Amino acid sequence: MSNYHIKSLEEYFQVYRKSVQNPERFWEEIAEENFMWRKRWDNVLSYDLNKPEVSWFEGAKLNITENCIDRHLYTKGDKTAIIFEPNGPSQKAVHITYNQLYERVCKFANVLKSQGIKKGDRVCIYLPMIPELAVSVLACARIGAIHSVVFAGFSATALATRINDCDCKMVLTSDGSFRGNKTIDLKGIVDEALLSCNGVDTVLVVNRINSEIEMKEGRDQWLQPLLDNAQVQCEPEIMAAEDPLFILYTSGSTGKPKGMVHSTAGYMVYTGYTFKNVFQYREDDIYWCTADIGWITGHSYIVYGPLANGATTVMFEGVPNYPDWGRFWEIVEKHKINQFYTAPTAIRALAKENLDFVEKYDLSSLKILGTVGEPINEEAWHWYNDNIGNKQSPIVDTWWQTETGGIMISPIPFSTPTIPTYATLPLPGIQPALMDENGEELTGNQVSGRLCIKFPWPAMARTIWGNHARYKETYFSAYPNRYFTGDGAMRNSTGYYRITGRVDDVIIVSGHNLGTAPIEDAINEHPAVAESAIVGFPHEIKGSALYGFVILKETGESRSHDNLRKEINQIITEHIGPIAKLDKIQFTNGLPKTRSGKIMRRILRKIAGKDTSNLGDTSTLLNPEVVEDIMRNVL
Ligand code: PRX
Repeated sequence: MSNYHIKSLEEYFQVYRKSVQNPERFWEEIAEENFMWRKRWDNVLSYDLNKPEVSWFEGAKLNITENCIDRHLYTKGDKTAIIFEPNGPSQKAVHITYNQLYERVCKFANVLKSQGIKKGDRVCIYLPMIPELAVSVLACARIGAIHSVVFAGFSATALATRINDCDCKMVLTSDGSFRGNKTIDLKGIVDEALLSCNGVDTVLVVNRINSEIEMKEGRDQWLQPLLDNAQVQCEPEIMAAEDPLFILYTSGSTGKPKGMVHSTAGYMVYTGYTFKNVFQYREDDIYWCTADIGWITGHSYIVYGPLANGATTVMFEGVPNYPDWGRFWEIVEKHKINQFYTAPTAIRALAKENLDFVEKYDLSSLKILGTVGEPINEEAWHWYNDNIGNKQSPIVDTWWQTETGGIMISPIPFSTPTIPTYATLPLPGIQPALMDENGEELTGNQVSGRLCIKFPWPAMARTIWGNHARYKETYFSAYPNRYFTGDGAMRNSTGYYRITGRVDDVIIVSGHNLGTAPIEDAINEHPAVAESAIVGFPHEIKGSALYGFVILKETGESRSHDNLRKEINQIITEHIGPIAKLDKIQFTNGLPKTRSGKIMRRILRKIAGKDTSNLGDTSTLLNPEVVEDIMRNVL
């Protein structure tokens, strides 16, 4: 029996048991039989979760691009690796074969080298969803440079913070991007960001929208002429298993974003394995994940996981409602998509529109549907199941995180029976635990608690760039010897997991992780603002939306509240990006605080969510009178 491809529930149980009884042997077999190594490992796993230190496949040597590209050339060089579907529906899709991908990655890698980029250097990639984004990620990996992709919806300030945090030497960007019927001046955002980044010597610019942009002498260059002159061969840099592959930033409940560091071998093995099983990928399937490569979903399940399996993966540049709400389904029909992976927020938005947008298209190619990023509500699940899957295509509700690198809890389609809103069972090798408030593990079923993982898995992030102490504090200090996810979950009578949401101050808006602290810091920059607090409240489409409680300074502020609201959202857009804008802003004279001065967000959350029948224990409040006042004026 091959462990690699699970095809029944019985097999899943067998494989799972084996993966827990002897994790080293389990992962070793998968690594051995399905990947290409330049040197075999000396040791499968060593770890100490208190330090925390984890090392997989120690001693092994490899290059991930050999696994994602080169090794497929012998058997399927002419197979399409990437289908690029442009923003404009009348523009032709581009099919990039594995042979072409090889050439493009090698040329790009040679350009990086010619610009002085070496193994271990950090390269910031700030690009829209165009082929150069995937190619540049792989080009970095080819030469051992560490990529740090920043989602191209982030603002100049957010970009600068991320560039500086990991000392990037180079930025890859484009003159602009298309988004629906708009264009966005990406290069302008990079120019602004770089005013506060001293370490960046080079900016390479893709011409995407043919716009007039300023090129800074000595720093900025167009990419294409460099590619035209680059050699087609580029020997891969031979990497150690634990060499960092990339950094990807994610929000924390406090402080600046955390640069999660993923290493090479374990990440490759895990994303490859989980892609194959969760999407039951078969040789001629066409797979489409609608995420952006700027997020972990795109890293693991648009680029590395699919390509490690020699799959055909679709990259979509546009948005679901351009030119109309039928765009996703038009693409499914056009490319005969077999696996479709998206976020609940997109499903909810699509479900609000007329069903004609769906029924116009032939969706019969679909075999498997996926969701990720936030809990999916029952209504959205049924809409997806009935109208998109025609009750034939299992829905994989995949729970995982930037930190976990790959999918952790998910059905195996056609094997695990699904239940709406349940991520169901842990994938092989994953050992979840639910913890109670006293730090005890809740054994047995029908329990709810905080979700932890008890044993290392190959794709777990190894540290936070430049701050290992924070890594330990955030993930490994709440419960000794366990990774704490920050999520709450329940386990039902059959052992299925349902993720109930964050238990910290991270709010998930439209599937994007947002920490409250950076947004509050941005708001507090407004000259009229004295203090602020952000909480999430339920939103029909976004899942959660942001509600801000803002105390103004006593300066006899004469601007109208509506103008102030606009200005506050403008500041947030500048500091973080439009995704972090507040839906509601309530001006107030005070915020509920504990005697030690901590804002009681629990109370604000209840008020914002209009759930004030039981505010819980308010006896530790310093100023209970403000609660009444806030409740009276709630928006
Ligand atoms: O709260 C969980 C939620 O998204 C968080 C991770 O966000 P991020 O690091 O941005 O990665 C998102 C894509 C992997 C988790 O802590 N989350 C993710 N998937 C699910 C989910 N919540 C419920 N159900 C899911 N399937």
